[in-house]
Amino acid sequence: MQPVPFVFGRVAVKADFTNRKMEIARLKDNFRMLVNTVIFSPRRWGKTSLVFRVSEELRKEEPGLKICRIDLFNVRDEAEFYVSLAREVLQATSTKWEEVGQSAMKFLSRLIPRITFSPDQQNEISFGIGWEELKKNPDDILDLAEAIALEKKIRIVVCIDEFQNITEFTQPLAFQKKLRSHWQKHTQVAYCLFGSKRHMLLDVFTHSSMPFYNFGQIIYLDKISQQDWISFIGERFRETGKQIGPEEASMIASLAENHPYYVQQLAQQAWLRTTKHCSKEIVKASHRSLTDQLSLLFTGLTHSLSNGQLGLLKALLSGEKQLSSQASLKKYRLGTSGNVSRLKKTLVDKDILDLQGENLTFQDPVYACWLREYYFKL
Ligand SMILES: Nc1ncnc2c1ncn2[C@@H]1O[C@H](COP(=O)(O)OP(=O)(O)O)[C@@H](O)[C@H]1O
Ligand SMILES: [Mg+2]
Repeated sequence: MQPVPFVFGRVAVKADFTNRKMEIARLKDNFRMLVNTVIFSPRRWGKTSLVFRVSEELRKEEPGLKICRIDLFNVRDEAEFYVSLAREVLQATSTKWEEVGQSAMKFLSRLIPRITFSPDQQNEISFGIGWEELKKNPDDILDLAEAIALEKKIRIVVCIDEFQNITEFTQPLAFQKKLRSHWQKHTQVAYCLFGSKRHMLLDVFTHSSMPFYNFGQIIYLDKISQQDWISFIGERFRETGKQIGPEEASMIASLAENHPYYVQQLAQQAWLRTTKHCSKEIVKASHRSLTDQLSLLFTGLTHSLSNGQLGLLKALLSGEKQLSSQASLKKYRLGTSGNVSRLKKTLVDKDILDLQGENLTFQDPVYACWLREYYFKL
């Protein structure tokens, strides 16, 4: 059986990755010149895939530049953060296993009695450092990349995914201050910080009172354009001996509102249903089936919302422009206009809505469609 030419839910690599030419060029420039960069977009728009792509390309093109990637999705406190930072920096800058040990001995000597290596278990370092000790002494770890870069005469870019998680550490502000005060002194290391919660990251990076204010260049990652999706979908069908016309491909992109994850998922469903030529009926059936598959999840999510929150979603889906007008407040039972602001904020915090400037949109286009057609029946 031939492999399905569309992937979702994991990093898009090689032929599964499309476009992003401008973003790739810009990130590569930043990485080469060691410019700190902050990237945000809602989840599943392609940040992880983009940074991965850029690091793969630079790995080949720039041997003197090492890229280290850390994912904070399962990092819950400061101690875990230090451990993963140390581990990833050591590994990204070593070609051999012994080198990891040597660098650790050299640069983390104050912590070394508690760092253990298991040389037979490749790539496994465990840090037996207690939180109390680490808290007293995180400096060596925070400066590890710079120390190694200077010693080995290389440049390093440290990429940190799901960076918004640091706002959930016990003392987020003190922690951010600590990071910033170390990192801004680094001359051979740049940081690329990215994550999904736009509102949280905006707080961290764009408020003048915050430690990370003006830390680096900010990039808002957009969706991928309809035109690019049409050629990508067409090509992937062709390569696998099937066909889809531009209108049908465009329908897939529109139904998924150009949302990278959903375009791939819908395209996959349509591809699986197609024997030779993908028709509009196939696209429609695939979209229905996708909505059905997610229905259980959406029902659960919807039950967790308050009446006010549901009222606001309904108003938005009905195309209401003036949410705080007397008529809207009454029609959708939104209470007061102060309440509308609170409802908006909660729905943004819950990752259901996305706020760009004044513009409120649904983060999940399939959820929006499900609510409109199956729940509110608008
Ligand atoms: N450049 C791209 N080309 C094709 N598909 C992409 C691209 N970027 C993202 N995707 C699709 O979106 C999904 C989510 O991407 P990911 O990089 O994990 O997003 P994020 O890190 O923003 O949550 C991927 O699994 C893939 O299906
Ligand atoms: Mg990601």
